[in-house]
Amino acid sequence: IIGTGSYVPERILTNRHLREMVDTSDKWIVERTGIRERRIASGEETNVTMGRIALERAIENSGIRCEEIEFLVVGTNTTEPVWPSASGHIANLLGLRKDLPFLDVQAGCTGFNFAFSVAEMFIKAGQYRTVAVIGTDKLSAITDYQDRNTCVLFGDGAGALILKQSMSEGIIRSHLGGNARSRNLLILSKKDGTGNAYIRMEGRKVYTFAKKAMVESCFRVLDPSGTADKKELRTLFEQVTKIIPHQANARIIMGAAEELESRLELPAGEAKNKMIVTIEQYGNNSCASIPLALDISLRTGKLRKGDLVIFVGFGAGLTYAANLVRI
Ligand code: ACO
Repeated sequence: IIGTGSYVPERILTNRHLREMVDTSDKWIVERTGIRERRIASGEETNVTMGRIALERAIENSGIRCEEIEFLVVGTNTTEPVWPSASGHIANLLGLRKDLPFLDVQAGCTGFNFAFSVAEMFIKAGQYRTVAVIGTDKLSAITDYQDRNTCVLFGDGAGALILKQSMSEGIIRSHLGGNARSRNLLILSKKDGTGNAYIRMEGRKVYTFAKKAMVESCFRVLDPSGTADKKELRTLFEQVTKIIPHQANARIIMGAAEELESRLELPAGEAKNKMIVTIEQYGNNSCASIPLALDISLRTGKLRKGDLVIFVGFGAGLTYAANLVRI
């Protein structure tokens, strides 16, 4: 990873604002989710405009020229209309190479992890040397602000990074997982009579799935063959500096950390202290959440060059994934 960038809209939606919209309270939202506020895109802002700014910042941060980018992959769920893809719009807006190949990856909130893994494969295969990856979503466009089960959770934003082929250790491997049988737990459905589709979710069931999937994916990315015993797995885990989890709910993140501690017989707090949590200010902004947290962590010195990091996510589909990366 030679550069990162991110963007969040200016408008802040606090728990207090939400209290005026649905039957909820700041106390409930903070206790159950860890979220205090989230960013909401203006009418003109889209996943494309936010992704474009994030990528521009990542290009600047990496010091490369736009023309050096050979391939663009965008994880997103909120392109409207769905054709042409967000990646095509972004490539055009930024004036990337005329013949640049680009594609969108749609895998719920795991879209960033999947997109990152697509980029990883093309680089490892030797097909491209410099690849841009973006995670961007405008969940506010598909959130029903009359549904307290969902509207307190979501926000908007974008994060981007530039990957470059290198002889030194970088992306070590990824683990991708899915559970299509549970696809109905998190879907878009039309509200009676209207043309708009909104997120509908069985929160409790997604919560249980998420915690389990994150732990499983962390183990699988450290031990792809599944042959390590507890002691070996613990040694592998101890080498990890930080974990950047999908920011869906602070309780899911801390619950997964507790599960890791219990399964690996680690001292209390050992996995919790590795978790990077930015949800308080941004809520769940889907594909943006991991690259946004990565960018913030690098810029504030929470992460440093040489750190070994796991990006781990889950989302609609249902899907889940982890990427093991030497920063
Ligand atoms: N304010 C006040 N009360 C609420 C609210 C709210 N905003 N939302 C729900 N409640 C109520 C419920 O109606 C319920 O009341 P009842 O007991 O009278 O029926 C009570 O609170 C408890 O509800 P639960 O759903 O059991 O609460 P839980 O502790 O599970 O928290 C939450 C709900 C936050 C949604 C949690 O289940 C969760 O985070 N699930 C995972 C969601 C998620 O991560 N989704 C995103 C996936 S990523 C993607 O692809 C978009």
